[in-house]
Amino acid sequence: MNVQWYPGHMTKAKRQMQEDLKLIDLIIELVDARVPLSSRNPDIDRLGQNKSRLILLNKADLADERQNEAWKEYFQGKGFHVVKVDSRNGAGMKNIQNVIQEACKEKIERDRKRGIKNRPVRAMVAGIPNVGKSTFINTFAGKACAKTGNRPGVTKGKQWIRLNKNVELLDTPGILWPKFEDQEVGIRLAFVGSIKDDILNMEELALTLIGYLKEKYPGALNARYEVSEQEEALSVLEGIARVRGCLKKGEELDYAKASGLLFDDFRSGKLGRITLEWAPAE
Ligand code: G4P
Repeated sequence: MNVQWYPGHMTKAKRQMQEDLKLIDLIIELVDARVPLSSRNPDIDRLGQNKSRLILLNKADLADERQNEAWKEYFQGKGFHVVKVDSRNGAGMKNIQNVIQEACKEKIERDRKRGIKNRPVRAMVAGIPNVGKSTFINTFAGKACAKTGNRPGVTKGKQWIRLNKNVELLDTPGILWPKFEDQEVGIRLAFVGSIKDDILNMEELALTLIGYLKEKYPGALNARYEVSEQEEALSVLEGIARVRGCLKKGEELDYAKASGLLFDDFRSGKLGRITLEWAPAE
């Protein structure tokens, strides 16, 4: 379900996040690999000071592999640990366990020096709505993992999922609020389906997406719809409507339907693996 954000919503999410952060060592932050910056909220960097950090490029299966690598390097360059994952089919999950140990090395060492043995790393998952938090928790934790009950000294009502003897995960993810101030960010989030479609002008968005694909992924539209990409975006949308028989009553073309179809295809990866935001060249 998509959440419509208003200030009250954000304040509540922020407060909850601050509470939960007190309980954990590591933030596992999910971003959408197709829009790694637009799907982040930089407030997390301030809120999560002094925590170990892991960024997951989720939905990596839908994004351009070359860009996945470029983004991985980009975030690593900023000091994050990074893993590419597909939370739906579990790709990348095995890797995470080791990276968690690596990310929390200092904490584990600190514990050891103080004579604390075997205190598990506590982690929480965070990200904006629809980025895949629930899917990730289900896949990563799997069914085999027992939930631990309330622990003495820990806020009542919190459930921890014990992943193994080294790691415990808070079972409710932290919800970060998208950055709505920047219109470009809003458009990218709409492309990937993180903003409710019915409040958007889908046809205008479709034209923008077509323009982007023509430039950055030439051949993708032609391969799927056999339309000529030499024409302007509106003609391409018209071509899609024709090829797919999107008609209103009579012979009039139904652009709204063609736009919906284009977005369904894009979001499900049928146009290929496409990244909408390219990693800045370092
Ligand atoms: P949230 O808790 O962060 O709000 O997100 P959630 O897990 O509900 O996931 C949102 C949508 O993204 C779901 O699709 C989910 O299946 C999909 N998804 C999550 N991770 C991945 C991934 O790594 N790759 C791909 N391709 N998809 C992913 P949906 O269409 O809303 O639901 P469903 O029909 O898949 O159940």
